[in-house]
Amino acid sequence: MGAAEVSFRSVFLGPPGAGKGTQAHTVAAGPGVLHLSTGDMLRSHVAQGTELGAQAKGFMDAGQLVPDALIIAMVEDQLASNEESGSWILDGFPRTIPQAEALDQSLQSANAPLTHVVYFRVPNEALIQRLTGRRTCGDCGAIWNVHTHPTQTEGTCDACGGALTQRSDDRPEAVAQRLEAYDKQTKPLLDFYRSKGCLVEIDADRSPDEVSKELSDALAKEVC
Ligand code: AP5
Repeated sequence: MGAAEVSFRSVFLGPPGAGKGTQAHTVAAGPGVLHLSTGDMLRSHVAQGTELGAQAKGFMDAGQLVPDALIIAMVEDQLASNEESGSWILDGFPRTIPQAEALDQSLQSANAPLTHVVYFRVPNEALIQRLTGRRTCGDCGAIWNVHTHPTQTEGTCDACGGALTQRSDDRPEAVAQRLEAYDKQTKPLLDFYRSKGCLVEIDADRSPDEVSKELSDALAKEVC
């Protein structure tokens, strides 16, 4: 059975560059699956010049996590306005224990508990190359990489012909900070979800297609 045929409420967890966005984009290309990326939401707030965007920008550019209170309110809003969605993926949230506790509470009140927490495991050496080489399509959101997943024409999206851009937090100094923030603040979530019997671990240091195949099998059966 494929991932699109069952309903799931999943968290994608892993270090920056592990491939969470790439895989979520692929799964959400199927019918009835919502991809909620806190990084994309924040970048959209920054681009639109909202109050939240102004508060978040400095933290993001420095490679630090945005304060819990801002993120939790933003995600709760999104989940409330998408209550009818069949399946969803939370990509990049939660990232701290307080965020995970807040998520548990709001899903309990909605009587819609998590079905999976998928951990994408990749060694640090591969992450640095993935992050510094990443390019994203400004039109369709497809994710490419000049080293590992290049487009046919440099700077142009193969999927839709849109222009590719590089994220401002993919500079080497910000990448180092993001990896440090992951180790200190997000890694403890692995034990948090392992102890609840929710963690599915995927070796993501393989081709995107191999990772997709294992992910699709994992999403087809509830684990929490
Ligand atoms: P966010 O946008 O969530 O960034 P991140 O978690 O650091 O994750 P990335 O998007 O960098 O990596 P990814 O795992 O999605 O990898 P991708 O698929 O793109 O957050 C940005 C910032 O926002 C944070 O630093 C923080 O400031 C703030 N923020 C967001 N959420 C927050 C929260 N909950 N709390 C507080 N602050 C928050 O792939 C990377 C590259 O690798 C691509 O080029 C891709 O083509 C390539 N690639 C993917 N898979 C493979 C593969 N299997 N083999 C080879 N290359 C691959």
